[in-house]
Amino acid sequence: MKAPVLISDRLILEPLSSAFLSQEYLNWLNDAEVSRYLESSGGYELDDLKDYLIKVDKQQILFWAIIDKATSKHIGNIKIDPVNQRHGTAEYGILIGDKNSWGKGFAREASELVINYCFETNYLRKISLGVVEENAMAVKLYEKLGFGLEGVYKEHGFYDNKWCNVLRMALFNPARK
Ligand SMILES: CC(C)(COP(=O)(O)OP(=O)(O)OC[C@H]1O[C@@H](n2cnc3c(N)ncnc32)[C@H](O)[C@@H]1OP(=O)(O)O)[C@@H](O)C(=O)NCCC(=O)NCCS
Repeated sequence: MKAPVLISDRLILEPLSSAFLSQEYLNWLNDAEVSRYLESSGGYELDDLKDYLIKVDKQQILFWAIIDKATSKHIGNIKIDPVNQRHGTAEYGILIGDKNSWGKGFAREASELVINYCFETNYLRKISLGVVEENAMAVKLYEKLGFGLEGVYKEHGFYDNKWCNVLRMALFNPARK
């Protein structure tokens, strides 16, 4: 499924595409603070991002660019992928790359928009995620969104120079429980 445009009070979510290639987007990926708890290792060149976005263009996936309506600025991305249609499950991920936009409730607003879309259309039964235990801002965000802890992968990844636990969290569609 291709991501539809979604609109909330302060945000517009548009399907991520090569149209969003920018130096600023590249800078997020290479910012140590932004990527501290992400899989990406930094050291990206503009051509790497260009190639990645060309691949995204060809995919039918729920992957959105988050745009701040007030400034028309691309501030991050949000994704529901991969989807398992047989089980009605999917993985969720979010990145607010623009650090000036942190702590303003944008991640929460974008997440609610996407979760409501996936649940109200009955597209999904359950949304899951993995988060490094030390990523306090993200864990707090997911708890506020209603995600519950399903398990702990002990010392599952090496982040910020140490072995960290990865929490598995999930949210059920109340209409399909
Ligand atoms: C984690 C991240 C998505 C949060 O985005 P954000 O837009 O700053 O989050 P929000 O402003 O929507 O905050 C949501 C909740 O998180 C918590 N939160 C936000 N900033 C916080 C901070 N500085 N300290 C502690 N908790 C914080 C608050 O509880 C907030 O709820 P509230 O609005 O009711 O107070 C963002 O920091 C980010 O993209 N980080 C880098 C990439 C990343 O780690 N992604 C997650 C991978 S699992």
